[in-house]
Order: sequence, then C-alpha cells, then structure tokens
Amino acid sequence: MTIEPIRDLLHRPIRDLRISVTDRCNFRCIYCMPKEIFGDDFAFLPKDELLTVEEICTVARIFAAIGVKKIRITGGEPLLRRDLPEIVERLARIEGIEDMGLTTNGLLLQQYAQPLFDAGLRRLNISLDALDPKLFAYMNGRGIEPGMILDNIKQAKETGFQVKVNMVVQKGVNDQEILPMAAYFRQLGITLCFIEFMDVGNDNDWARSRVVTKREIYDRLSAWHELEPVEPNYYGEVAQRYRYKDGAAEVGFIASVSESFCSTCTRARLSSEGKFYTCLFASQGFDLRGLLRGGATDREILAAICNVWEKRKDRYSDERTEQRSLQRTKINMSYIGG
Ligand code: GTP
Ligand code: 5AD
Ligand code: SF4
Ligand code: SF4
Repeated sequence: MTIEPIRDLLHRPIRDLRISVTDRCNFRCIYCMPKEIFGDDFAFLPKDELLTVEEICTVARIFAAIGVKKIRITGGEPLLRRDLPEIVERLARIEGIEDMGLTTNGLLLQQYAQPLFDAGLRRLNISLDALDPKLFAYMNGRGIEPGMILDNIKQAKETGFQVKVNMVVQKGVNDQEILPMAAYFRQLGITLCFIEFMDVGNDNDWARSRVVTKREIYDRLSAWHELEPVEPNYYGEVAQRYRYKDGAAEVGFIASVSESFCSTCTRARLSSEGKFYTCLFASQGFDLRGLLRGGATDREILAAICNVWEKRKDRYSDERTEQRSLQRTKINMSYIGG
C-alpha cells in the first residue's frame, strides 16, 4: 500500500515518525520530569492503555505507506518496555523504513544492548548531561553516577552500535561541563550533540536566560579545536553537525531556540497511548488507538492520518523566535519523548 506523498499547509512532507513506547522513566531529570511533580503519586498510563506491539506496527506501517522513511523510538525511557526487542525487530521489517534509531538514558543498556542489536537496531542516541558525579546525580534526580552510563556507552560501541551522545545545556547548571564533555567524547571518536534547553512541557521552569545558545557553545569549542561544517545526513536534519578539523570526532548542535528549524520539520509523533501529534509543543493529539480498537480498516486510519497532516501548520519554535505570545498547555516531554 503506497499513495502519493502528502504535504502539510506549509508544504512539508512527512518523513519521520517518533514513537514513544512508554511514558515512564527511571530518571527524574530536572528539565524534563522534576521529581516534585513526577512523584510517587503521579498517574502514569495504565498498561492496557498503551499500544500493543501489534498496534504500534500497524500504525508504523500506515505511516510508512504515506512517506515515513525514518523511525525513532523514544519514551519516557524506552528500555523500561520489556517487549522492546520485539517492537524493534518488527519495525525494522516494515517496507520503506530506511533508518531506525532509539533515544535512551542508557542506564539499562548493559542488559539490552545485545538483544536490541540482534533485533536489528543500529543507532543509539544516549543522553548524558555531565561527567561530574555530583552534578550528574543531581541532574538525573535519581543519584545515578555517570560512570555507569559511560561504561554502557563504551559497551554499546563495542556491540557495534553507531552511538551519539546528547547533552542538554542549562546556563548556571551544567555549562561548565561543555569542554570536559567535548574532550571526553572527542578522544573516544563519539559524536556529542549539544541541545539548547527548551520550553517543553509545563513544569521545567524554562527561561530564555537559562539557554546557552549554539553560537556560545560553538565559540567555546572552536577556540579550543578548529571545526568545519559537515553535510546533513538527511533533509531537515535536527542537528547541525561539525567535525574537528583533525578528524578526531564530530559534534552536533540542536539549536531549536536560537536557530529554529520548523520550516523543514517533517516529523510526526506517536504517544504510547496512540495519540498522533504534529508538533513537540502541541496541546492536543489525534486518537489513533480509538480507531484501531474500534475496528477501523487500515485505509480508514490512513485517511485520518492524511487528513490531520494536510491541516498541519505547526511552527512553535519559529513563533517563539518571532516573540509571539506562546502561552499554552503543552504535552509533557516524557510523554512524547522529545
Ligand atoms: P537523529 O538525527 O536521528 O540522530 O535523531 P534526533 O537528534 O532527531 O533525535 P533525539 O531523540 O536524539 O533528539 C535530540 C533533541 O532534538 C531532543 O532534545 C529532541 O527533543 C530534539 N528534537 C527532535 N526533533 C525535534 C523537533 O521536531 N523540534 C524540536 N523543537 N526539537 C526536536
Ligand atoms: N530541552 C532540551 N532537550 C530536552 N530533552 C529532554 N528535555 C529537554 C528540554 N527541556 C532531551 C533529553 C534527550 C532527548 C530526547 O531530549 O535529554 O536527550
Ligand atoms: Fe531524563 Fe529522558 Fe527520563 Fe526525561 S525521559 S527524565 S530526559 S531520561
Ligand atoms: Fe517541528 Fe514543532 Fe519542533 Fe517546529 S517546534 S521543529 S514544528 S516539532
């Protein structure tokens, strides 16, 4: 089943699908799931409300039929989902899917790296915000030491994965870690991606003054080692990538605050309970689970997805840049997976 490529109201095709497989996480990062809000009494989704493996694959197959070529699996923390290797194996077999990656905090990789590799996964984006043990323990809200994540990053490389490391930079919190992190991953030849702190969700106390911009980070890095730009891996790549001139490693910048990239945004998002969102900063999603469990045919689901995409005009980060008033209740980062 393939149909003509569709475009949204800003002429953007649909190319990527980010699938969140759980809203739970074993971390409580201060900028994503602050523990004061995501405490013991927080109401996560009950298991029967999560899409099953079968349902995830049905939806992904339909998205592939309308142009999705790239899948990213997210959470919460996706490794908390026990049937993850099965999900990966089945998604990897879908016709038209050319690339698949997984974004994780890396804590459970010791156990899952090999099964995921065997299931066909090849790319891992692993989050790590600091090398300083006290600071990292504070930032992840669970007292986890960076050594465990570093060991798992090395093990993932040895298993054969292409590994990228994501660091969310917050002014006054971990900006002093920029150079130590850069030096550490440069020496390992691993790409480190610096992410500007974003105003995702409603609880992360965001202020523009707490963002360290791509330009500031770039200037600090290039004063240390010369950098040169690298061609994007794919149309509308989120990260702007550079290479150290001596070829030791690459670095990336995700500058969604200072240099927003909505005009090339080809991403659809599926929440773990089966809602389809057309922007990371959306307030509402379209309920695909209702259709799936109500007996809709694949064609009917496909028509519903096309209908939502064809009405899409989201450009939240561009609007933020234009200083428009953006007061709205947004979905949580941990619910939609970034
Ligand atoms: P690859 O390019 O496939 O390696 O993945 P990625 O960098 O897009 O995915 P990852 O999950 O590692 O995300 C890195 C950061 O980019 C996270 O902070 C995401 O929230 C952010 N991000 C990804 N897509 C978008 C987007 O469409 N809009 C915004 N504003 N941020 C995004
Ligand atoms: N701003 C920027 N990036 C964030 N992430 C989580 N919350 C934020 C935020 N407020 C990152 C995670 C992970 C990726 C999926 O999104 O650290 O690397
Ligand atoms: Fe941290 Fe990712 Fe968990 Fe959010 S989902 S608390 S960013 S590990
Ligand atoms: Fe896409 Fe929304 Fe991010 Fe803009 S803010 S790049 S529209 S997800």
